[in-house]
Amino acid sequence: MEAISVFAPASVANVSCGFDILGFCLDGVGDEFYIEKTVEPGVHFKEIIGQKLPLDPQKNVAGVAALALLKQHPSDCGFAITLTKGIKPGSGIGSSSASAVGVVYALNELMGLGLSKMELLPFALEGEMLASQAAHADNIAPALLGGFTLVRSLQPMDIVSIPTPSDLYAAVIHPLVELKTAEARSVLSAEVSFKDSIQQSANLGALISGLHTADYDLISRSLVDILVEPKRAPLIPNYSALKQAALNANALGAGISGAGPSVFALCKGKENAKAVAQSMREVLESSGTIFETFVSPINTQGTTTTKSHEIL
Ligand code: HSE
Repeated sequence: MEAISVFAPASVANVSCGFDILGFCLDGVGDEFYIEKTVEPGVHFKEIIGQKLPLDPQKNVAGVAALALLKQHPSDCGFAITLTKGIKPGSGIGSSSASAVGVVYALNELMGLGLSKMELLPFALEGEMLASQAAHADNIAPALLGGFTLVRSLQPMDIVSIPTPSDLYAAVIHPLVELKTAEARSVLSAEVSFKDSIQQSANLGALISGLHTADYDLISRSLVDILVEPKRAPLIPNYSALKQAALNANALGAGISGAGPSVFALCKGKENAKAVAQSMREVLESSGTIFETFVSPINTQGTTTTKSHEIL
């Protein structure tokens, strides 16, 4: 294979009660890579389309992830990358993670390394760390593997795939204001109360159980975040109104997507997800904020090859 086209999807991290450890994969929105082998070794960005991002591989999430993989698996040839960003950085739906997982997936295929997606995650994590200045895999794991994933441990990396109920859909609204992950992390408390951590664990355990058994009522009761949402909500304009609008339209639950400013809702059925998206849209339309919305099934494929090219 001389070149490859890859799609790396957006994702929703935290999912209310699983801060830094739970996430799910979205469908239809993400980054696209076209990567060609070159005679000259190393990683070279030909073009980044859609966003202004550094072309220097050391300063770019995808570049850092690629270099981490090549450090352990050196190659005689090099790689020329064209990246089309379908996700805005600082949107809260895993922009940096899509870039990090897409490139390591593509290099693994192009080099014929035969590494599993699980084995690729540590390289993607190095790229992700450049963006958020903290190690967490709750976006990269679902973006690469698909579905819902739980990060049981980072060192050693231990990721658990959680089943996806077939009628579960996501509605996401992205107000077009940038909120950097590092900023959204700076408002969090270093310590939480014993009582609150017990309540948060109870919700997380119940949510995982609800996903396993497709118990939509249990999923709904469990989508509660008492640790992080109260700290971050003030950073997101209209957050309370957006969440309330989703709940009024019968979403199973709603919360901050990753570090924000996007807001997600989980819904039973596509029609309900569309109604929830519309309800959230009306909040921002009346506030004059520019935004985009996505209605998506849970993407169980994760990162995929869209085309492989044998001959250039
Ligand atoms: N778990 C991370 C956070 C996701 O909420 O800060 C964003 O990178």
